[in-house]
Amino acid sequence: MVVPSVSAERTLTSLYEAIHRRRDVRGQFTGAPIDPEALERVLAAAHAAPSVGLTQPWDFVLVSDVATKRAFVDHVSTERDVFAASLPPERASVFANIKIDGVMESTLSIVVTYDPARGAPAILGRHAIADAGLYSVCLAIQNLWLAATAEGLGVGWVSFYREGFLSELLGIPDGIRPVAWLCIGPVSHLEETPDLERHGWRQRRPLSEAIHHDRWTDKARGLEN
Ligand SMILES: Cc1cc2nc3c(=O)[nH]c(=O)nc-3n(C[C@H](O)[C@H](O)[C@H](O)COP(=O)(O)O)c2cc1C
Repeated sequence: MVVPSVSAERTLTSLYEAIHRRRDVRGQFTGAPIDPEALERVLAAAHAAPSVGLTQPWDFVLVSDVATKRAFVDHVSTERDVFAASLPPERASVFANIKIDGVMESTLSIVVTYDPARGAPAILGRHAIADAGLYSVCLAIQNLWLAATAEGLGVGWVSFYREGFLSELLGIPDGIRPVAWLCIGPVSHLEETPDLERHGWRQRRPLSEAIHHDRWTDKARGLEN
C-alpha cells in the first residue's frame, strides 16, 4: 500500500487529534453506509500494526448479517445481566443507565481474532511472554480505532460475551480466539467525555499518577515501595 504523502507537521497534528478525539461509541451511531475505501484504509491501518515475531496473528471477520448481530446482542444482554447481578445495589443502579453496545445501530461489526499458532513454533520475542501475541492483536485494534476516528467513524468495543459462544456463532476454528467485537460506522458526533465518566461510573486519573521514576511508587497511597 502507498502511504499518502503529507507534511510531518500535518501528520503529527492529525495523529494527536485522532488520539484525543477517539471515543468508545455506543449511542451515537447513525447506521449510514461506510465508504468502502475508508473501510479499506481502516483495515489496512490495523494490518500495519507491529506484531511479535512479525506474526500478524490477527484476522478480521466483518459481520453485517442482521440475524448474526441479533444473536450476538441477545447473548450480550444475558452477560449484562450476569454482571449486573454481581454488583452492590448502588453500583447496579449506576450501571443500569449505561449502554454497553451499539451492535444493532452501527453499520458494521468487525470481530478481531488471535491465532497463537501463526508463525509458531519459533516466534521471535514470544518465548518468555506468551501474551505478546495477544498484545499484538490489541495494537491492531488500536490502529483500527484511531484510523476510524481519523476517517470520522465511531468504534465501540464490546466484551460482554463468552469466547465459546462467539466462536460457535461465527465458525471460528478451535485454537483461534475472538479478542474483540467492534461496532463501527458513521456517528452523529463523538462525545468529549467517556460514557463511563459521564454516567458517574468511574473517573479518568491524571497522567501524573501513572508515571513512576526509576522504581515503582505507590502513588494511590502516597508511599514508595
Ligand atoms: C478491552 C476493552 C473492552 C471493552 N469492553 C466494552 C464493553 O463491553 N462495552 C462498552 O460499552 N465499552 C467497552 N469498552 C470501552 C471502555 O469502557 C472505554 O474505552 C472506557 O470507558 C474509556 O472511554 P473512551 O474509550 O471513550 O475513552 C471496552 C474497552 C476495552 C479497551
